[in-house]
Amino acid sequence: MILIAEKYRRCAPSYDLLSAEWPVYRAGRKIGINSLDLHPGDQVLDIGCGTGLNFGRLHQRIGSEGIIVGIDRSPDMLAQARRKASRKKWANVILIEADATMLTPAAIRASIAAQGGREYSEAALATYALSIMADWETAWTNMIRMSSPRASMAVVDMQEPTGIFVLATPLARAACRLGGADITAHPWTALERDCADVQPASARGGHLQIRTGYRR
Ligand SMILES: C[S@@+](CC[C@H](N)C(=O)[O-])C[C@H]1O[C@@H](n2cnc3c(N)ncnc32)[C@H](O)[C@@H]1O
Repeated sequence: MILIAEKYRRCAPSYDLLSAEWPVYRAGRKIGINSLDLHPGDQVLDIGCGTGLNFGRLHQRIGSEGIIVGIDRSPDMLAQARRKASRKKWANVILIEADATMLTPAAIRASIAAQGGREYSEAALATYALSIMADWETAWTNMIRMSSPRASMAVVDMQEPTGIFVLATPLARAACRLGGADITAHPWTALERDCADVQPASARGGHLQIRTGYRR
């Protein structure tokens, strides 16, 4: 766990450039965010938000009257997210340094409210983050506990490619190893279990798995 934290500390300044965002991972976040049921003014929680690569798309959907709450364990990744928000003049971003597997939902809700947000978020997502957390089930439970009833939820994560794309399996495994992700974790199964009206999608030969649904 410490090794992964160190990895993100070191790669934070170059993460956006080196994370294969454009050829591979952007496709998943685009589908995930487009499938979220977002409205102007909504508050959306981004668990393991990293450098804030989701923020632009989220901001487009919820507008400047909405609120983005980014939670991440890495102060260095959050510093990049803070820089991005300030460069883009997004005044509606609240960033909280916390371990999603160990936080106390009530304390985080209070912290959000103290920073001008609302205790419960109308939407929540985790992109390429849960599979990095050994105890991702607890992170998912915490995500639910910070969301309002019938909140729109999304999990975007990785698995081994399928069909003819199995040829790309070594590449997919290497990318996950590099980021510290467990390619066999399949954290979207928790959303399938706990949410209603689940919409499944995939991209990049099945490597990217996207699930959206509503908190029951
Ligand atoms: C691969 S990056 C993904 C970042 C972002 N969600 C994206 O789509 O670009 C994974 C992020 O999860 C964060 N992370 C890993 N374990 C965490 C934990 N237990 N609690 C909160 N954040 C965590 C890392 O610091 C890193 O910023």
